[in-house]
Amino acid sequence: MTDDSYILSDPKTGTQVELPVHRGTLGAPTLDISNLYRDTGMFTYDPGFVSTASCHSSITYIDGDEGVLLYRGYPIEQLAEHCSFIEVSYLLLNGELPKPEQLTAFRSKIVHHTMVNEQMKSFFTAFRYDAHPMAIMVGAVGSLSAFYHDALDVHDPEHRELSAYRLIAKIPTIAAASYKHNIGEPFVYPRNDLGYCANLLRMMFSVPAEPYEANDVSVRALNLLFILHADHEQNASTSTVRLSASSGANPYACVAAGIASLWGPAHGGANEAVLSMLSEIGTVDNIGPFIDKAKDKDDPFRLMGFGHRVYKNYDPRAALIRTICHEVLDGLGDDADPLFELALKLEEIALQDEYFIERKLYPNVDFYSGIIYKALGIPSSMFTVMFAIARTTGWVAHWMEMMADPGQRIGRPRQLYDGSARRDFVGMDKR
Ligand code: ACO
Repeated sequence: MTDDSYILSDPKTGTQVELPVHRGTLGAPTLDISNLYRDTGMFTYDPGFVSTASCHSSITYIDGDEGVLLYRGYPIEQLAEHCSFIEVSYLLLNGELPKPEQLTAFRSKIVHHTMVNEQMKSFFTAFRYDAHPMAIMVGAVGSLSAFYHDALDVHDPEHRELSAYRLIAKIPTIAAASYKHNIGEPFVYPRNDLGYCANLLRMMFSVPAEPYEANDVSVRALNLLFILHADHEQNASTSTVRLSASSGANPYACVAAGIASLWGPAHGGANEAVLSMLSEIGTVDNIGPFIDKAKDKDDPFRLMGFGHRVYKNYDPRAALIRTICHEVLDGLGDDADPLFELALKLEEIALQDEYFIERKLYPNVDFYSGIIYKALGIPSSMFTVMFAIARTTGWVAHWMEMMADPGQRIGRPRQLYDGSARRDFVGMDKR
């Protein structure tokens, strides 16, 4: 991996350190500073990891300046057009698109793990009736290690594979149960003759009193959204999963940690926040004051669904979702959704505003996804849960990749300490 080197020199002492430079297949060259402390006694400082590659990975590549997203080298646009979410999951986990028999075998493995231990039912009912479904998700997914401890040896590749299938298969069942608990309806068991998305919609929306068949437009829309959300290299939640896993923690605990991180409004929680923001804006006339509020440095408000750490161009996922919004809303007979019209107008106004132009702030994946979820009848409290279902595949792929890496070590960042220097204890009567 090392192609050349970079010399760092201290002008005061004239000391020089030669740092190896790694060049991946694509992307910026990377300075290897792993021996910097040993060689110089210095740390590097990079809050928010703006210039730091935390690992090497061959799963997903983003070119933020060009607005490019590749899964295992394949452009997201091509995968979105041709694949099912399960096919993309196979690709992310295994590195190659499946042959027909590989896809059938993979699907069968996922399908045979969709049920959850029956005792988990009482776990759900222990939550308050109005618990946020993401709160239930964090607890329920974390609890899986208590139910599936037959395969928790993270150093055994067969155990890892089984845990991967279990996580991808059970997450929709758990998500639907979180929703059913929230609305006071009975849990619906998975049906293995249905595809991944149709099964999820059925577990969320069917009731024992009448038959249910998921609408084709809804299934296709959900499939697309899940593909677009499946992975996004070293984002906050994936890095959380990796850091948690680096200690050897079990995968259910690590994915629960990823879900907790995803919930934040600066990350996956933004899709829920976008819809509240659009509802609050209400009409086109109010867009101006909201844009002013987002630009005001004394106001913590930000335009939700806008901006991205990596994309300094249109997020390709947002572009795809925006394109299918019309199709989905038309297909579901909801073509006049005022929130979509409002979102389009908000985007148009923001993209002409100097503040957003200068900072290269564009709509991100969450700006339009909530509009589709809403059209599918999914309540806003479930938006981030939907994101978590799709991203579980990415989290699991990263976990599998790092656990198979013989060079894997515990993640342990250092710090720039700026607290008190050593001082002596002062008794209570002297403080
Ligand atoms: N509205 C208004 N101003 C913004 C916004 C926004 N949405 N996003 C960034 N800015 C401004 C910042 O105030 C900052 O301005 P300054 O240079 O004058 O100080 C500049 O743009 C750069 O922003 P940072 O916060 O430094 O960028 P960072 O990479 O740390 O944050 C983030 C990225 C968290 C996504 C940010 O853009 C944001 O909060 N967006 C809104 C929340 C959101 O949509 N999150 C979803 C992200 S996608 C995902 O996780 C699935």
